[in-house]
Amino acid sequence: MKRRGYGFLLLFLHILRAVTALEKIVSKPGENVTLSCIYPGREFSLDNLRVYWQIADDEDTGPCSVVHALISGQDNESLQCSQFKNRTQLFWDKLGDGNFSLLLFNVRRNDEHTYQCVVMQTIEYTKVIHQEQVDLSLAASYSQPILSGPIRNSYSTGEEVTFSCRSDNGYPEPNVYWINRTDNTLLSQSDFNITQHPNGTYSVLSTLKVKATSDMQIECFIENKILQENTSANYTEEMQSNGSSTGSHKDPAKSGQGAQAAAVVSVVILMAFLTVLICWLWRRRSSQLVSYTGNKALHLCD
Ligand SMILES: *[C@@H]1O[C@H](CO)[C@@H](O)[C@H](O)[C@H]1NC(C)=O
Ligand SMILES: *[C@@H]1O[C@H](CO)[C@@H](O)[C@H](O)[C@H]1NC(C)=O
Ligand SMILES: *[C@@H]1O[C@H](CO)[C@@H](O)[C@H](O)[C@H]1NC(C)=O
Ligand SMILES: *[C@@H]1O[C@H](CO)[C@@H](O)[C@H](O)[C@H]1NC(C)=O
Ligand SMILES: *[C@@H]1O[C@H](CO)[C@@H](O)[C@H](O)[C@H]1NC(C)=O
Ligand SMILES: *[C@@H]1O[C@H](CO)[C@@H](O)[C@H](O)[C@H]1NC(C)=O
Ligand SMILES: *[C@@H]1O[C@H](CO)[C@@H](O)[C@H](O)[C@H]1NC(C)=O
Ligand SMILES: *[C@@H]1O[C@H](CO)[C@@H](O)[C@H](O)[C@H]1NC(C)=O
Ligand SMILES: *[C@@H]1O[C@H](CO)[C@@H](O)[C@H](O)[C@H]1NC(C)=O
Ligand SMILES: *[C@@H]1O[C@H](CO)[C@@H](O)[C@H](O)[C@H]1NC(C)=O
Repeated sequence: MKRRGYGFLLLFLHILRAVTALEKIVSKPGENVTLSCIYPGREFSLDNLRVYWQIADDEDTGPCSVVHALISGQDNESLQCSQFKNRTQLFWDKLGDGNFSLLLFNVRRNDEHTYQCVVMQTIEYTKVIHQEQVDLSLAASYSQPILSGPIRNSYSTGEEVTFSCRSDNGYPEPNVYWINRTDNTLLSQSDFNITQHPNGTYSVLSTLKVKATSDMQIECFIENKILQENTSANYTEEMQSNGSSTGSHKDPAKSGQGAQAAAVVSVVILMAFLTVLICWLWRRRSSQLVSYTGNKALHLCD
């Protein structure tokens, strides 16, 4: 029982260490990133040191997982996967201080992995002295979209009109949402074009075709899931524009409040009118006939 308890404790500590050791890095496509691996507080001699950087999530790496290998003070290129050739570098001046971080140049889509550094030291025998994991994912913010729509008064109600929403240089592929701001419902896009630039980022163009109404308030959202970012632009009918234009600032919240106030006022007026009418009717009837409910209602009318 006690042994088992210790076993669980060790397992727990092991998991805890694995979890806390995993660092997450988000990089833009095309950037250079430093994958961190630090074992401080000791001086190392490079002669008896081995440093392996490898891919730790092995699903789609195939047989090759070595990102960088340093053996007895020398980079061993024959072990390195071809996709990382000439793209990695250790910080030579820092190795002796226990900084085994790896610089990876020009990151791209298929570099998205969990990486692991394994540091081994040979004194009498070879043993692992340090391990660390780094999770690398790519992301870039999308630019604020440019929303183009029909020019005011250039269409008639019921006619089909086209909106387009364009946003640039983001990563990964975004979700696009079109929202009818009049009733906050989702509209579905009619067409979606995406192009990838040499540096890996995307530009997107989404189009929406709808039947025109007299008051169109439409917002287009570009969502980046990795960054948990939304960028958006508005179209409102009051927009003065020649051809394309970005969102302007008619405030629908205000006009919504106005409409609400008007509705409340009309209901109040209607109710007052009805009360007067009913009371008048009761008065007329009560002179001949008095019932229990009638009596009660009469008090209200006094
Ligand atoms: C990445 O490093 C290379 C080589 O030092 C340099 O030429 C390039 O400008 C760097 N790229 C970025 C995005 O900093
Ligand atoms: C690299 O490692 C391989 C396998 O361990 C070994 O055969 C080769 O000699 C090493 N090359 C260098 C330059 O150290
Ligand atoms: C790496 O660089 C060397 C020398 O600059 C070059 O000969 C080799 O072709 C390059 N390898 C790759 C895979 O780019
Ligand atoms: C390790 O070296 C890298 C590259 O010079 C540096 O950016 C980083 O701050 C160093 N880390 C520590 C803990 O010294
Ligand atoms: C937006 O919602 C309003 C109110 O439900 C509706 O009348 C209008 O047709 C909708 N506009 C579009 C473009 O679907
Ligand atoms: C979208 O892409 C298709 C082909 O992939 C092309 O025919 C169409 O013209 C593009 N639409 C726009 C608006 O660029
Ligand atoms: C990627 O390339 C596009 C166009 O070629 C450029 O506008 C954009 O700034 C680049 N993005 C990054 C992150 O380098
Ligand atoms: C972005 O906006 C859309 C539409 O309003 C919403 O469904 C989504 O949850 C938002 N995403 C984030 C990360 O805020
Ligand atoms: C679009 O209008 C809504 C109000 O309906 C506002 O909350 C939002 O900030 C506006 N977006 C932009 C990009 O101006
Ligand atoms: C449209 O553009 C013309 C010139 O290109 C300009 O004279 C006119 O004022 C513009 N109209 C609006 C509504 O912006």
